[in-house]
Amino acid sequence: MPKEAALILAAGKGTRMHSSKPKVLQTLLGEPMLRHVREALRPLFGENVWIVIGHAGEMVEAAFPDERFVRQQEQLGTGHALLTALPQLEAAGVERLLVINGDTPLITADVVRHFVEGSAAADLAFATIALDDPGAYGRVVRHDDGSVRAIVEAKDYRMEQYGAATGEVNAGMYCLDLAQAARLLPRITNANKSGEYYITDLVGLAVADGLSVLGVQCGDDTSLLGINSPLELAQCEELLRERVNARLMASGVMLHAPASVRISPLATVEPGVEITGPCEIYGASVVRGGARIASHCVIRDCEVAAGAEIRSFCHLDQASVGPDALVGPYARLRPGAVMEEASHVGNFVELKKARLGKGAKANHLTYLGDASIGAGCNIGAGTITCNYDGKHKFQTHIGERAFIGSNTALVAPVRVGADALIGAGSVITKDVPDNELGIARGKQKNLPRRG
Ligand code: UD1
Ligand code: CA
Repeated sequence: MPKEAALILAAGKGTRMHSSKPKVLQTLLGEPMLRHVREALRPLFGENVWIVIGHAGEMVEAAFPDERFVRQQEQLGTGHALLTALPQLEAAGVERLLVINGDTPLITADVVRHFVEGSAAADLAFATIALDDPGAYGRVVRHDDGSVRAIVEAKDYRMEQYGAATGEVNAGMYCLDLAQAARLLPRITNANKSGEYYITDLVGLAVADGLSVLGVQCGDDTSLLGINSPLELAQCEELLRERVNARLMASGVMLHAPASVRISPLATVEPGVEITGPCEIYGASVVRGGARIASHCVIRDCEVAAGAEIRSFCHLDQASVGPDALVGPYARLRPGAVMEEASHVGNFVELKKARLGKGAKANHLTYLGDASIGAGCNIGAGTITCNYDGKHKFQTHIGERAFIGSNTALVAPVRVGADALIGAGSVITKDVPDNELGIARGKQKNLPRRG
């Protein structure tokens, strides 16, 4: 078995996006384009993947801290990108290389595998798709017998030289014998309309050299569409959304108003979950069977357990919602919020690095940050953990079954014991022992009215 690896070309600026962000960091369903491509390569190539970066490369590195990179200082074209990567690939002993454009985020592991298998016999193979309008894609030119002659970039295509375009275009995915490619690459020039070194010129050179060159036809497969503009980004994101939703519905996930339900392909949503759009579920979120998520919720990197209910207008980020817990409407769970079984968080309640014990309730207008709240507690409306003194954060601990009266400020660090009771309107600055009543507020005076 030759040593196989993959190379993602991601150094380009993406001029046609008109954005300061590098193109491969533009997102579809909450994930950068590059992540979608990387994940499609993982089943076949595992860690044997290199990414060519250049324009704003440090931003790409920061977003993908676990990946291996090749730096292309000047972006002189896709052929130059491959040339730049050669030393690292050769040093790693790579013999057969899959090259893929970083701007094809609809790619799937199945399509990659199918292409690699179909390319096995060729020295150089590339994937092609059939488009009604070939647009800016490189045109595939074949001889009369159907064998590949060349790929000609849109800008350089001349009817009189190559005949009418057929609609078969280069999809930007290649499989090549690295030694052969290394031999041909120095022969690529930038004598074309863009003044760039095109990887696609390898095809004509390989044909001229008598190598076996294959254009693997993938029909009208949308998974190979490339993204060059904001419009194409939106169109591809829509296709991806439909694909994810169709897969989930086929498995038994109930989606109401699915056209407005946006779920990341990285998320796990189990059969029996019910979701009403508009709704967004991003990142590596896990939603267990029987959970219900109402409309207008945004959920990222969260765990939602079986039987939990998220009511409308909730925002959850890196939080965990336990079995049969109830969230919202209008609740916010920030990173580190943990709701245990059957706990409740109601309207205008915010949790951050806070654990709400089994069956505990905070139903109205409350901020709980850097806090642990014991099982069965009742947190009254308007309770605030004052966790920050302007410099440092401090912890609040509330024991089991404690009852915190409305409009209480808990000035951390502070502990409220199990079964303790806090009088409404208190500012609690000292620990309250188990079973005791803590009350800290001005005494009421009733005076005769004047005038
Ligand atoms: C490319 C192909 C075209 C194909 C299309 C498919 C070439 C010359 N043309 O065109 O035949 O139909 O993809 O989508 O390859 N990149 C680098 N370094 C560079 C230049 C580009 O890493 O110096 C990267 C870009 O970040 C991008 C990818 O290569 O991810 C493709 O570059 P792009 O400029 O988008 O090529 P296309 O014009 O779309
Ligand atoms: Ca492109």
